[in-house]
Amino acid sequence: MKTVLLVASVKADVAAAVEFLASGHLVAVPTETVYGLAADASNDEAVRSIFAAKGRPTTHPLIVHIADVEHARALSRQWTAAAEILTNRFWPGPLSVLTNRSNRVPSVVTGGRDTVVLRVPDQPVTLTVLDRLHELGSIGLAAPSANRFGSISPTTAQHVISELDGRIEAVLDGGPCKVGIESTIVDCTSEPAVVLRPGGISAEEVAGVLAEHGLTVEYGKDVDGSPEAAIAPGMLRSHYAPRTPLMVFESAAEAAAARDEAASQGRRVAELPHPTDVYLYSRDLYATLRSCDDGQADLIVGVLPASAGLGAAVRDRLLKAAAAR
Ligand code: TXA
Ligand code: MG
Repeated sequence: MKTVLLVASVKADVAAAVEFLASGHLVAVPTETVYGLAADASNDEAVRSIFAAKGRPTTHPLIVHIADVEHARALSRQWTAAAEILTNRFWPGPLSVLTNRSNRVPSVVTGGRDTVVLRVPDQPVTLTVLDRLHELGSIGLAAPSANRFGSISPTTAQHVISELDGRIEAVLDGGPCKVGIESTIVDCTSEPAVVLRPGGISAEEVAGVLAEHGLTVEYGKDVDGSPEAAIAPGMLRSHYAPRTPLMVFESAAEAAAARDEAASQGRRVAELPHPTDVYLYSRDLYATLRSCDDGQADLIVGVLPASAGLGAAVRDRLLKAAAAR
């Protein structure tokens, strides 16, 4: 199978993406965070093929993307106050809500769990695709990040091709992702709500909006550290990882010292750019990690941003990418 490149600005291409998805095929779609490897969440067979294409364990649950909060409520058995407040404020946007699933969500999507993670992406063409699929009776699109399991998430259609060419029917090219790192996942099943993964919406923003309604939030065990942790401790630390070893430091001075030392030993060192504007750092992080990982370097050195706001999510991804494999 040759993967077809579809273009978001071409109407016939958007129609083709809908057609592929409605007939059970896999299409990578743009979101504001990273590209998603999408299948019709109503179609068990299609959802199963996501795990095969990605090389991901079938027990690893998938996020369901929907067009609006109405569709989210229909997939939840218990839409809590925190879910209502956060989604009213941040959707469409890089926030994912964990909720108790209704029986409309097939269990293959959630790896057999009783909960489901839902998100309305802030990407016009993907919202159009979702609207059409809902009209055709679909509950939404199940989509993990469109990379092979354990590797760097894709933020352009070209990245998707380099990861999944020949394994999926098509990629819908909507240009580079503007947030660049994955969504923030908040468990809204309990009170207080719990941030399970830092992401495109900062924990401070989540806490601020909930506080306006007298609610609080906690910081929980990392969702990317949980599903396989019991099976193979440490295995998940290779998430988001380049093949080239990466070392990260709190300051540019420490990074420069490490670079000089490695260079003095004859190692080829690539320096990861570290924009002072954390939005640019986030937006370009995965693309720059990929380009530093082109086989030309023996070591990549990076500088961690401060942990305020979006910086927390950038730090999280860099620390995971740097963790020993
Ligand atoms: O920004 C994003 O969230 C991107 C775009 C494509 O929407 N998606 C994404 O999906 O990052 P993925 O599959 O790479 O990461 C989703 C995380 C995984 O760690 C998964 O285990 C967790 O969410 N997750 C999904 N459903 C869950 C559930 N019911 N319970 C616990 N964790 C869940
Ligand atoms: Mg992922």
